[in-house]
Amino acid sequence: METLKIAVIPGDGIGPEVIDEGIKVLEKAAKLSGRIQFEFTHFPWGCEYYLEHGRMMDEDGIDQLRKFDAIYLGAVGYPGVPDHISLWDLLLRIRKEFDQYVNIRPIQLLNGAPCPLIDGSKEKIDMLFIRENSEGEYSGAGDWLFKGKPEEVVLQTGVFSRKGTERIIRYAFETAKEAGKSVTSISKANALNYSMVFWDEVFEKVSKEYPEIETHSYLVDAAAMHMITDPERFEVVVTSNLFGDILTDVGAALAGGIGLAAGANINPEREYPSMFEPVHGSAPDIAGKGIANPLATVWSASQMFDFFGYSDIGEKLLQAIERLLEENEVLTPDLGGTASTSEVGDRITEILNDLF
Ligand code: NAI
Ligand code: MG
Repeated sequence: METLKIAVIPGDGIGPEVIDEGIKVLEKAAKLSGRIQFEFTHFPWGCEYYLEHGRMMDEDGIDQLRKFDAIYLGAVGYPGVPDHISLWDLLLRIRKEFDQYVNIRPIQLLNGAPCPLIDGSKEKIDMLFIRENSEGEYSGAGDWLFKGKPEEVVLQTGVFSRKGTERIIRYAFETAKEAGKSVTSISKANALNYSMVFWDEVFEKVSKEYPEIETHSYLVDAAAMHMITDPERFEVVVTSNLFGDILTDVGAALAGGIGLAAGANINPEREYPSMFEPVHGSAPDIAGKGIANPLATVWSASQMFDFFGYSDIGEKLLQAIERLLEENEVLTPDLGGTASTSEVGDRITEILNDLF
């Protein structure tokens, strides 16, 4: 039996609440499968830790995490610590140091999940976003000149390397090849006359290596519109860090809301641990009430199983989420129910009993 070592960073706000349920589900599914077991190690990092120690994580935190197979993260950020500190010093630091250059975000409408489109259906809304996760508009490059003076100027530079652009696009093609799907690239070469012209060129070049795969290319503004009016167009989608950030929130709205949106930060070479997390933040407005929806965190557990080669178990987790949504009985308030976070986690484990 394989043992996977998981570093758990529950983080702030509802992070610990949803992570508890995620772990409950991971353990249950592992046990039922009889093929895998988890060893969890908790790290108390986040904003509370920052207020006490002046840092978001231990000084050698990255070294401590290095030896794990994966990282399971709740959410970070809380009033009292500026968001750019909590984000850059923990989450983005992990993504960068561990070269997690692929952000995989499934936009998949399960039966029973709410959809704002009149004719939204499982068949129509089934996309897989592959978002560049290491550079681009979020590289942190720039300058702030003449601060506070009348001639003040700020520069925020997008950084698109050939290596970085090629590898994310290639990852999308490999994913599409395996799934027998098309690849759509989303860029903005008409206005961003360096970075996105380059992106399109690289897309064109890599696509030649996969002549059997159907491709499409859209400008980001048109893509945002098509996602609403004609979501069926999109299968595997590859895009930059900023565009992916924004469009996957559009996607989350299409596929049941933020309480169902999961994201995996992947280092495909497996040189470093990959990180699995819900897309949502720490939700200070509902933290401590026990009503946060844990399904996004459960979905990211499903991605974890996929990543380690147990996609049949990952699939069962998705089936469990879908059955729970269809039952329409044990749901948190964001999905119109009255259940608590842990009641949802418990119900998922009961459904898993049936599915194995
Ligand atoms: P948020 O995602 O925390 O909350 C946005 C809205 O969605 C709130 O009304 C919240 O109650 C609701 N919501 C979020 N997750 C939910 C869940 N699981 N169940 C039910 N309702 C849920 O985003 P917001 O308010 O912009 O940010 C709050 C803090 O979280 C900030 O400090 C921000 O920096 C941080 N953040 C952290 C992220 C991460 O750790 N990956 C991602 C996004 C924000
Ligand atoms: Mg976002």
